[in-house]
Amino acid sequence: MLNITIRDEKNRVSEEMLRNAMQKAAPVLQRAQAGEEKYADSQGWLNVDQWAGEEWLKQIEAIAERVKKTCDAFVLIGVGGSNNAARGVIEALAEGGVKVIYAGNTLSPRALKDMLRSLEGKDYAIDCIAKNFETLEPGSSFRILREAMAKKYSPEEAAERTICTGTYGSSLEKLCQKEGYTFVPFPTDVGGRYTAFSYVGLLPMAVAGIDIRALVQGGRDMAKELHAAGADNNPALRYAVLRNLYNQQGYTMEVLASFEPQLRWFYKWWVQLFAESEGKDGKGLFPVAVEYSEELHAVGQYLQDGAPLMFETFLDIQEPTEHLVIHSDGKQDYFDYLNGKDFWDINKAAFEATVTAHSTKLPCVILKVGAIDAYHFGQLFYFFQFSCYLSGVILGINPFDQPGVEAYKGWMFKALGK
Ligand code: PA5
Repeated sequence: MLNITIRDEKNRVSEEMLRNAMQKAAPVLQRAQAGEEKYADSQGWLNVDQWAGEEWLKQIEAIAERVKKTCDAFVLIGVGGSNNAARGVIEALAEGGVKVIYAGNTLSPRALKDMLRSLEGKDYAIDCIAKNFETLEPGSSFRILREAMAKKYSPEEAAERTICTGTYGSSLEKLCQKEGYTFVPFPTDVGGRYTAFSYVGLLPMAVAGIDIRALVQGGRDMAKELHAAGADNNPALRYAVLRNLYNQQGYTMEVLASFEPQLRWFYKWWVQLFAESEGKDGKGLFPVAVEYSEELHAVGQYLQDGAPLMFETFLDIQEPTEHLVIHSDGKQDYFDYLNGKDFWDINKAAFEATVTAHSTKLPCVILKVGAIDAYHFGQLFYFFQFSCYLSGVILGINPFDQPGVEAYKGWMFKALGK
């Protein structure tokens, strides 16, 4: 059971308030657990096995093995939900193996040239991940990568090295059929940011050597727990209700924090999940993430002393990521209080101190996470996806669409003559 505690000197949301609000939100939980007809076209992720069951995993592993045998690098072409889950895990856990390079997430010529330069001298495959295949970033990156491959490989070999993750019937699937690229399915009934447990997230992870079976198992176990627990003790409901209560009290931002920089890219996934799911109809908490302890020396000042806009959610990792003991070298540097101490404990002391200090000013929510490994990433993906769904429904918005991202596109496509 994912443990969620609150540290708040002013007790802005008491345990009793929270329990009452959770009971009030019980119908939201029950509908989500049953699977709502209303959101049926976006809920393919609710059952982890739907797109990450044994048959899917075997297929994903087979393609990943093929890539591993022939490539030093693998280019993940995708933006937003087509990129963030895989990147969050790969950047945290991948060691050695095929290097994953990211494209399709920028229009900056400098960044794109850097990406192409990083492929020089390497054998690589590409995976264009696009639900609609209309998005400018992946579409344009796919072009320049096809051009680069045409210079390096024969047409047959380039085709063999090209994978596309798209929806059935899409223009991307047609392109694959015509050009002989490998086509794998992007779940039709899952929006980008909810696709960690599918080809979208799992293929790049498998290529990078991540234990995708452990990750999927983490998701399954979390799903089981969240679908079984009632309104009185459901951790996802607890978190979802808490977020909404703080929001109602005038907190307009949620700051996700941890003391492990390994989670840097996972934050991006989390920010996207909540921002794109909840920021609509003039509502929603603005999600931001901070990397401690570094940013205690930056935004830490604002959090402790600035306008009270936010509450803070800490990911508190339980299992040591490493041990590193600091020794004295006999020189008088006035750091002798550190002699013999392990950085794991020093970092924990900084965490405890931060929560103690910040909770005098703002509510602090603490999520205990077992470890930073594939299994727990699976747990976190499912936990936050399910929480976001509940939280969005409690807030009164549709957590699965993103109408707001269309506005700038109209102007951009007009300027580009689409
Ligand atoms: O979560 C979402 O739905 C979005 O972030 C999409 O993933 C993102 O816009 C990319 O869309 P597409 O895969 O269609 O290019």
